[in-house]
Amino acid sequence: MMRLGFTRERTSAADPVGQSRSLTPEQIEAEFQKLKTRIHRELIESLDLSKLAAMEEARLRAHVRNLAEALLRAQPNLAAGIDEDRLLEELMAESFGLGPLEPYMQDPDVTDILVNGPREVYVERLGRLQLTNTVFADEEHLMQIIQRVVARVGRRIDEQAPMVDARLPDGSRINAIIPPLALNGPVLSIRRFGIQPLGLQDLVRFGSICPAMIQVLAAAVEGRVNLMISGGAGSGKTTLLNNLSRFVPEDERIVTIEDSAELKLQRRHVVRLETRQANAEGAGEVRPRDLVRNALRMRPDRIILGEVRGAEALDMLQAMNTGHEGSMTTIHANDTLDALSRLEVMVSMAGEEIPVPVVRRYIASALTVVVHLARLKGGVRRVMRISEILGMENGDYQLQELFGFRQQGVDSEGRAKGFFYATGSTPRFLSRLEERGVSLDPKLFTERTLEPGDPNGWNWEEKA
Ligand SMILES: Nc1ncnc2c1ncn2[C@@H]1O[C@H](COP(=O)(O)OP(=O)(O)OP(=O)(O)O)[C@@H](O)[C@H]1O
Ligand SMILES: [Mg+2]
Repeated sequence: MMRLGFTRERTSAADPVGQSRSLTPEQIEAEFQKLKTRIHRELIESLDLSKLAAMEEARLRAHVRNLAEALLRAQPNLAAGIDEDRLLEELMAESFGLGPLEPYMQDPDVTDILVNGPREVYVERLGRLQLTNTVFADEEHLMQIIQRVVARVGRRIDEQAPMVDARLPDGSRINAIIPPLALNGPVLSIRRFGIQPLGLQDLVRFGSICPAMIQVLAAAVEGRVNLMISGGAGSGKTTLLNNLSRFVPEDERIVTIEDSAELKLQRRHVVRLETRQANAEGAGEVRPRDLVRNALRMRPDRIILGEVRGAEALDMLQAMNTGHEGSMTTIHANDTLDALSRLEVMVSMAGEEIPVPVVRRYIASALTVVVHLARLKGGVRRVMRISEILGMENGDYQLQELFGFRQQGVDSEGRAKGFFYATGSTPRFLSRLEERGVSLDPKLFTERTLEPGDPNGWNWEEKA
C-alpha cells in the first residue's frame, strides 16, 4: 500500500482536545465514512471534468490522488484513529473502481456480488450468500458506479438501453439493469471469474460429486459421448463443464462459443468465440447460432457451447449428430426431463417447423448423457442425477439413471445432506467407449451407496 507523503499533528492548536477525544472503534468508523463522503464530494467538485476526459488513465489517477491528498490535508480536526492510507485507497476506489464494492472485488473468496438497489449488497463466499452492511450513499451513487463500469468496457446504459451484459477486464461477468425495468433501483450482478475457478478436487471436497461419477464422466468425455449439463441458475453448470473439458484428449481441436467468455479450458488447441450484442443503432449482432454455424467450418473436433438458450440448439444438435461427437453444452432447467423439453422448445425457435416427434428423435439420437445439478439448501451444489438417454419409446424419452443423490434433511448449519448412489444400471454407451479404446470397469455401476474414497485405485486427481 502506498504510504502518505506527509504526517500531521493531531493534537495541535487545531484540535486542542486532541488525545482527550478517545473514540470507540464504531465512532471512528462513522467518522471515517463521514470524512470519506465529504472529501469525495469536494474531490468531484474540484475536478475539471472537461479536462479529465482527455487525460490518459495513469496521469488521471496520479492527478486525482494528489488532489485527494491535498483535500485530506486540509481537513480540520481529524479524529485520532482515522487510517489515512485506507481513506485514500477508498477514495481512489470511489473514483476509479467499483466504489464500496471494490474490497469484494479484491477478496479471492467472493464469487458473486449482488446489488439490489443502493441499500442492499449481497456477496457469496464459499458457496454461501450473505447480506453485507455495505451500502451506497444513494441511488445516484450506485448509478455512477454502474455507468463507469459499463463505459469502461465500451457499453452504455440509460433509459433507452436499460440492460447491459458485459465482461470486465479481469474476466468477471457483469449484468446491470436499471429503472424503469428494475423497480427497486439499479441492480448490478457480478459473477467473478478473475479468481481461481473451482477444480474437481474442490467439487469432491464440497461433496458436490463423487470420484466414481467423475471417472464415468471423464471416460464419457474422452470417448466422445455427447453430453449436456443441466441445472438451475448458479448451480455450477459452467464450473463442471470447465472441469470435464479437461478430459478431451490433448490432440483435439476445440471451438468454444459463449455469450461472455467464462470457460477456462486448460488446453492448447482451443479457439474461443464470443457472441456480440447489437450496438445502439441495433446493428452488428452476432448470435450464438451464427457462431455455431461458423464453427462448423473451422474443422473442429468438438464444439463446446457455454449455454444453449435459443435457436442455436438445432445447430448444436446437428453438430453432435454429424461428426462432432463429444460436443458439450449446458442448459438452464429444473430436472433432466425439463432440460429435454426446454431443448425441444429451443429447437422450434430455429423456425424450421419440424414436427415434435421428429425433434424428439433428433434430440434422443444426438444426446447421450445428461448431468443434472442443483443448488440445495445452504448453498451446496450437488450432482443430482447422471442419466443416459437410450432412445425413444412410444413418443417418450427412454432414460436410464446411472447415479443419483438422495437428500436426507439438513445438517446443523442448514446445509442439505444426503448420499450419492449408483443405481445398478450399466450404461449402453460402454460398448461405444470400447470401440474408441476407452475402458471403464463395469463394477463402477454396481448398485451401492458411494463413499468418498470410491473407487479405490483410480487417481482422478492425476488425470484432472
Ligand atoms: N460445487 C460447487 N460448490 C460450491 N460453489 C460452486 C460449485 N460449483 C460452482 N460454484 C460456484 O457457484 C457460482 C456459479 O457457478 P457456475 O457459473 O458454474 O454456475 P452456472 O450454473 O453455470 O451459473 P449460471 O446459471 O449463471 O450460468 C460460481 O461462483 C462458482 O464458483
Ligand atoms: Mg453458466
